[in-house]
Amino acid sequence: MIIRGTILAVMALALAACASPPNLRKQPDASPPVLAAFRGDPAVVTAADWQRRAPLLRQALLDAVYGHPPDLGEATVEAREKLTLPDTDGMDMEQWTVKLGDGSNRRRFHMLVASPTGLTGAPLIIMEMFCSTRNAVKGRPDSIFEDVAALPEPCRSHNLDPVLTVVLGKRISGPDWKQLAQRGYAVAMFYPGEVVPDDASQAGPAIAALSPGVPADKRAGAIAVWADLFSKAYDVLSPDPRFDAGKIVAWGHSRHGKASLLAGALDPRFAAVIAHQSGRGGASLTRSIAGESLAQITASYGFWFTPGYAKGVPDDVDQHQLIALNAPRPVLLGTGRGDTWSDPAGAFKAAQGADPAYRLFGAPGFNAKGLNDYRPQDSVVWWSRPLGHGTTTADWRAFLEFLDLHVKTAR
Ligand code: GCU
Repeated sequence: MIIRGTILAVMALALAACASPPNLRKQPDASPPVLAAFRGDPAVVTAADWQRRAPLLRQALLDAVYGHPPDLGEATVEAREKLTLPDTDGMDMEQWTVKLGDGSNRRRFHMLVASPTGLTGAPLIIMEMFCSTRNAVKGRPDSIFEDVAALPEPCRSHNLDPVLTVVLGKRISGPDWKQLAQRGYAVAMFYPGEVVPDDASQAGPAIAALSPGVPADKRAGAIAVWADLFSKAYDVLSPDPRFDAGKIVAWGHSRHGKASLLAGALDPRFAAVIAHQSGRGGASLTRSIAGESLAQITASYGFWFTPGYAKGVPDDVDQHQLIALNAPRPVLLGTGRGDTWSDPAGAFKAAQGADPAYRLFGAPGFNAKGLNDYRPQDSVVWWSRPLGHGTTTADWRAFLEFLDLHVKTAR
């Protein structure tokens, strides 16, 4: 079963990589224009007007796509433990147990926290991971918490890890710790499925338990909860003087890229967002005509979204609004030109659609002229490379260049 699931996933990704390349000319533009009159709200002209518009867009996206995140309660650090781990020279490694809420509503998740030895006020990347955080360290040390039953099916057996690394890139399980230590970046990573598992049969009951009194058709999907977990992680990490609370970044790949973009849209404390290959329900327009369709994503992963999303979104809602809600904070959208399933062209059109919101603030906005046009100084940075779905060393080079330019040196 596990092996079959993994093989099917690998085949789907390989097939996607062979599909016809992304084509911008065939794609519809983002609609409606992000500054146009919206649901009775007059056209936006100034940055001050955006303060009126942003809550309406947030409400519209949560209603139509993600659902409203349930109240997870206050986040507190229950335990902190120093770990000695291989291949992490230059980093102080710790494991934090974070408690959410109290009483019968209590939940927990475990964070692997890496901070460059001797540094204070470091920029911090909060990362949500696909296959637990144990995979992020050489040798999968037992001292790192892992709840196998809450992992998505392909991650429950580790026999195929080497194959997945070949297909999905050297950095799919985690960053190069030593490089991050040298560049002065701290990292806190966790598997958000500890709170709502990334599994169709377990997610529904977990969300229902978190949402007493909310009718089933109005409940949030897993992505809304995962987005909120970025904020819960922020709550407990930001008081630590080893990190600069003004330089905390939300990072996610693919399904967690959908969550990182939403985290930035909902929580202005994030200094920047990296959403790598976030695709449908992330940076790519729902009305795009390429890549994974709405029917496909909701058939396989309906539990990521509010139930109504499967029926489509209202005419005045689309994902460029999600990117725009991050304005004027910088966002990196990572894509692979062979990763047609995640619809790079639909994300490019969404970035163009978000650009006017950045211009309101005098920010550089989005200036890429095509799918190969990398402009790291932009506010919405388009990063594109050949090949398919996954996280590579080249991707990290771009992530760190983006962070150096927009976060590390920023005031
Ligand atoms: C599947 C899914 C995508 C998702 C991806 C991932 O391919 O269809 O929407 O982004 O998994 O999270 O890797």
